[in-house]
Amino acid sequence: MTAASAEKGRAIVLGGKTGLLGRPLTAALLASGFAVSPTTRGELDPFDAAAVARAIEAFGATHLFNTVAYTAVDAAEDDADEAYRLNRDLPGLLARACDAAKVMFVHYSTDFVFGGDADKPYTEEDPTDPRSVYGASKLAGEKAILEAGALKYQILRTAWLFGPGKKNFVDTILNLARTREELKVVSDQVGSPTCTLDLAGWSADLAATGKTGVFHAVGSGRANWCELAAEAVIAAGIHCRVLPIPSAAYPQKAWRPRYSVLSNAKLAEAIGRTPRPWVQSLREYVYSQAQAHTSD
Ligand SMILES: NC(=O)c1ccc[n+]([C@@H]2O[C@H](COP(=O)([O-])OP(=O)(O)OC[C@H]3O[C@@H](n4cnc5c(N)ncnc54)[C@H](OP(=O)(O)O)[C@@H]3O)[C@@H](O)[C@H]2O)c1
Repeated sequence: MTAASAEKGRAIVLGGKTGLLGRPLTAALLASGFAVSPTTRGELDPFDAAAVARAIEAFGATHLFNTVAYTAVDAAEDDADEAYRLNRDLPGLLARACDAAKVMFVHYSTDFVFGGDADKPYTEEDPTDPRSVYGASKLAGEKAILEAGALKYQILRTAWLFGPGKKNFVDTILNLARTREELKVVSDQVGSPTCTLDLAGWSADLAATGKTGVFHAVGSGRANWCELAAEAVIAAGIHCRVLPIPSAAYPQKAWRPRYSVLSNAKLAEAIGRTPRPWVQSLREYVYSQAQAHTSD
């Protein structure tokens, strides 16, 4: 069998060389048997529909993965036009390009599309109710994909990402914990911590199924930010007390959901395996980071 005939598909990954998710996604797709063309904004302007169409044709793409987004949740409150340009207009444009070329469009959304008043994990069927510019712009992006009439699409709603290669909450906490005796972290927001390495693997597997729809793609289990921080500090073996505080004691510009745990049952069914618990992924991530530091 030739390498080409063994391929699962041919994937363009927008943001695949720089993003927190983009980089592990590129690696996971390669590892699972896709030919991959990761791009930066300098190499392929994602807003240039003609250039995207040419790239799809030139690479013989079967899938286009979009990890490009406006992800600064607080900054979005004062920068709505740019947030909507990236989070609504871009996925709409890309979905139309993919539909015209008959390739699968894979896009990522967020738990912030929900209102946060639930008392059990949100499923894909639950009503949305975003209350921040970021959440509203991401939901508008989901709707733009549906309105584009794309027949082959996957929207993976994820949450609370941590992983190698780019600044994230866990790294921030560990850096602070190394220099302080005590950290105070919000404990009244509950969500679904998710490792980018895991998400990348699920997304590669889901893409290979050819299934269409919205999927909640998060680690199993739940945590509040204080619990996530404390687990990271313990795993890193740092002596620092991690104390819970209410959101009111840590004001942020954008509204945050009180409870945004997502049910990953539909994803598990689609890919034939249950996402592992976030704690397991977190420990692996923290240990691997520590090893990377000691071998520097
Ligand atoms: N991070 C989270 O905790 C989280 C939670 C829920 C959902 N999500 C979703 O998951 C997806 C991936 O998030 P992420 O954290 O990996 O994002 P990220 O690290 O912030 O990456 C964003 C990517 O978008 C590119 N980009 C930003 N502005 C651009 C512009 N104006 N033109 C072209 N490219 C631009 C960046 O390129 P440069 O490197 O060149 O800037 C980067 O490759 C997003 O859809 C996000 O909404 C993330």
